[in-house]
Amino acid sequence: MFVDTHAHLTDSAFDADRDDVIRFSKECLVNRIITSGFNIPSSKEAVNLANKNDGIFASVGVYPENIYEINDDFESEISLLTKNKKVIAMGEIGLQYTQDMPQKEAQIQAFIRQLELADKLNLPIVIHCREAYGDIVSLLKEHKNLLNCGGTMHCYGGSAEVAKELIKLGLFISVGGVSTFKNAQRLKDVLKELPLQRMLLETDCPYLAPQPYRGRRNSPAFIPTIAQNLADLKGATVDEVARITTQNAVEVFKLC
Ligand code: NI
Repeated sequence: MFVDTHAHLTDSAFDADRDDVIRFSKECLVNRIITSGFNIPSSKEAVNLANKNDGIFASVGVYPENIYEINDDFESEISLLTKNKKVIAMGEIGLQYTQDMPQKEAQIQAFIRQLELADKLNLPIVIHCREAYGDIVSLLKEHKNLLNCGGTMHCYGGSAEVAKELIKLGLFISVGGVSTFKNAQRLKDVLKELPLQRMLLETDCPYLAPQPYRGRRNSPAFIPTIAQNLADLKGATVDEVARITTQNAVEVFKLC
């Protein structure tokens, strides 16, 4: 049995066949899926989908591109959503220093505000990070007191050194389809250095389908493909990868 710890099942790419995708993923032994919000409306949709389906859980939060949606009602809206038992994390939240994104300072403020809220609500965090690993590590170190519930670095793409710092802070490293790409040798080398005991599996579907499905719509049903690739990198069996990463997901997200 596998857990897809980061999916976007509410994406319109699944509008035509969402129930079939969920059913087929379960047939592929991916029996628990965390569907992630990235702003307030998508967080509400994630909670609704989780409520309708056994084995689907929701994470709620506002990620860098959408931080201008954060207003005075934000804390109460998120707090209300988290009263639902299917909400198991705050995310995705984080920093993205690519073009056309909000100013760094505004991103940092929104990130800290959500770290504080996650701590207040006793939820682990799901971090989104692109081209901002230096700032993520220093902010997390500075706010270590807010990390009592742990969390994960979703779709990890940084160095082994940064990953080790994150692990020291109590976070898990989440491995997705990019780790299967032919041109991802650097990431493959990084994953070889890290312990399976601190790793999770994810798809980030509908984006980032693993080889040999690259470019197609991704789905939680591709988790076993990502797990097999990770097993090969680690010299482990796919059963070991399934068992350990599932245990990790249950531990950090308190899944039932
Ligand atoms: Ni995502």
